[in-house]
Parts: sequence; structure tokens; C-alpha cells
Amino acid sequence: MKKTRAAITAVGGWVPEDVLSNTDLEKIVDTTDEWILSRTGIKERRILKGKERGVSEICTHAVRQLLEKKNIDPMEIDMVIVGTVTPDYFFPSTSNLVCTNLGMKNAWGYDLTAACSGFIYALATGSQFIETGRYKKVIVVGADKMSAIIDYEDRSTCVIFGDGGGAVLLEPTEEEHGVMDFVLHADGAGGQYLNCRGGGSVYPASYETVDQKMHFVKQEGQAVFKHAVYNMAEVSVRIMERNKLTADDINYLVPHQANKRIVDATAQRMGLPGEKVLMNIERYGNTTAGTLPLLLWDFEKQFRKGDNLVLSAFGGGFTWGAVYIKWAY
Ligand code: UT7
Repeated sequence: MKKTRAAITAVGGWVPEDVLSNTDLEKIVDTTDEWILSRTGIKERRILKGKERGVSEICTHAVRQLLEKKNIDPMEIDMVIVGTVTPDYFFPSTSNLVCTNLGMKNAWGYDLTAACSGFIYALATGSQFIETGRYKKVIVVGADKMSAIIDYEDRSTCVIFGDGGGAVLLEPTEEEHGVMDFVLHADGAGGQYLNCRGGGSVYPASYETVDQKMHFVKQEGQAVFKHAVYNMAEVSVRIMERNKLTADDINYLVPHQANKRIVDATAQRMGLPGEKVLMNIERYGNTTAGTLPLLLWDFEKQFRKGDNLVLSAFGGGFTWGAVYIKWAY
């Protein structure tokens, strides 16, 4: 019997209109366009401005686009998994809100917390519901409104992050396409270097947590950088070896957009030339769970049926991993 695989059959994406450029940031914190560009590769990022606007808005736009593109009745969707660290609320989940916003009344789902690896974790999870034959249409979303948890007085973090996200539709196929393999990892000891501790059950929101800025992202950049460079490269090479892929076999590396230098190091370890490495960090910055679906959205037109893509990410947790996909259309 042929194996059923989960094929990506559509992509949607959305970023807010408001642009926060490096020059804008020069007026807010002690930084320069030259520093940001040379250290990270970022020129500008998008910010979801205005009160009472959450990440569900980003997700809803992206999923609506995907449904419209494929002319799919929302009632046909079985499940929606949202990778995010900036849900609208503790509950209801962002998945619940998106399903209701778009009339996906037959769907259930949940949010998944894996920071920058949120999309690959969710993709691996969603693909299992298809492969087992349980469901026919699963939507996987990766999105974050990082501006909600960023301290715009902290130059070491505020220059990096932005808002945005995207979504993919997974459907079953008997062809040799879709999610072919994944390797995922986690190490909670990394939490000391990258975290947002306020508002959970250890430090519930209080005047003190606000005074101590515990509701913002804290990052020890260099420590995270070292782990990211090593682990993203290692897991990407491992997924190549497991699937007997040479650099020539890979059409595109779809890497998490945290820092151009981390991506360059990963591509180098994989032996990939620059033209096979997808980048859009210069326009969006690091949108956490949003980076990978935003890359798929931006470069969708360039992909051909049968192309080999390696998605790779590293982020808070620590979490990291790689997914090997054969493009299905
Ligand atoms: O996506 C989640 C996972 N996150 C990552 O993968 C991020 C990994 N880390 C990084 O990408 C980099 O560490 C950063 C981009 C965050 C920082 O780059 P870096 O080259 O590691 O800089 P650094 O932290 O070592 O700082 C170098 C200098 C310091 O000054 P001194 O001590 O040398 O005088 C910083 O104070 O740059 C200073 N600095 C800045 N200067 C201008 C830090 N932030 C800024 C800034 N503008 N925005």
C-alpha cells in the first residue's frame, strides 16, 4: 500500500502595513542603520499598531487568503494549529478565534508554543493527522505579534523583531510529495538565555512584574547566537544525511530569519550556494513563528512541483529542528 503523505497545497501570508525602519529606530534607541544591517541583515520590520489588535488578526488574514486562493468552503477544514508565542489571550486559543472569525465550524485546534520553531513543530504535528488518514484538510499557521512583548527601550532586542505570519493547507497525497521527514529538538536549559517570564503561573502579572519589565523578551544575544549557529547547521545537515540528499538535490533552504549570519553559517555547512537560500529578513525582521510561512508565501511562485525544500529553525526554549518537504504544485 502506498504511504499517505501531507502535501502543502496552498500558502497564505500577511504582514501589517506599518513599517518600522532602521532609521525610525535610530530616533528611539541608541543604534544605527549600519549596526543593525551589518549585524543582522534587517532594514525594516512591520508593526501591528493600534489598540486591541492581536495575532489572531494576522492569522485570520493569512488563512482567509489561503481559503480564497483555493476556493475552499471553510466548513471543509478539519483542524487549525497555530504556532505562536504571542496569542491574543491565555484562552480562548488563537486557533479557536481564527476558526470562529472565518466560519470554520467543523474545525478544532490549538495553539502551540515553540517560539521560532513554532511553525515547524506545528507542521510536523499537523502532518501526522493527515498521514494517519484521520483528516483531509489541516491548516498550519505560524504567526507572532512580537511588538506586544518587545521593550522599545532595549536596543538589543527591539531592532530584531517584527510582526507577521503565514499559513499552509495540508492535504493527503499518495504521490511522493509533501512532508517527507522531520527532526525536532528541545532543551529547556536554553530558557536562561532567551525568555519572557512575566504573566505565567510563576510570575503572574503584578505591579512588580511590570516594574521589572518581565513581560518583555529578554535575550543574551551572543549565547543564543552560538547555540543557533551550531544547532541549525547540525540539524539541517542531519536531515540531508537521513534522506540521502546532496547539496545538488536541494532546491531551497527555507531558514528561520533571526540573523543573516546564522543563515549563512547553516548554508555553508550544507554546502549550498547563496541562490538556494531564501531570505526576506531585510523586510520583516524576525517574526518568530512567522518567518518560515512568510518565506513560503513570498517565494511560492518560484517553487516547482518536486522541488526539495529544507525548512530549518532555532529559537526560544531552546527549540530547533528541520523539515524536509517535496513541493507538491
Ligand atoms: O530568533 C530567536 C533566536 N534568536 C537569535 O537567533 C538571535 C541570536 N543572536 C543574534 O542574532 C546576535 O547576537 C544579535 C543580533 C542579537 C546581537 O549581535 P552581536 O554581534 O552578538 O552583538 P553583541 O550582543 O555582542 O553586542 C556587540 C556590541 C555591544 O557593545 P560593546 O559591549 O561591544 O561596546 C552592544 O552593547 O553592540 C552593542 N549593541 C548595539 N549597538 C548598536 C547591541 N545592540 C545594539 C544596537 N545598536 N541595536
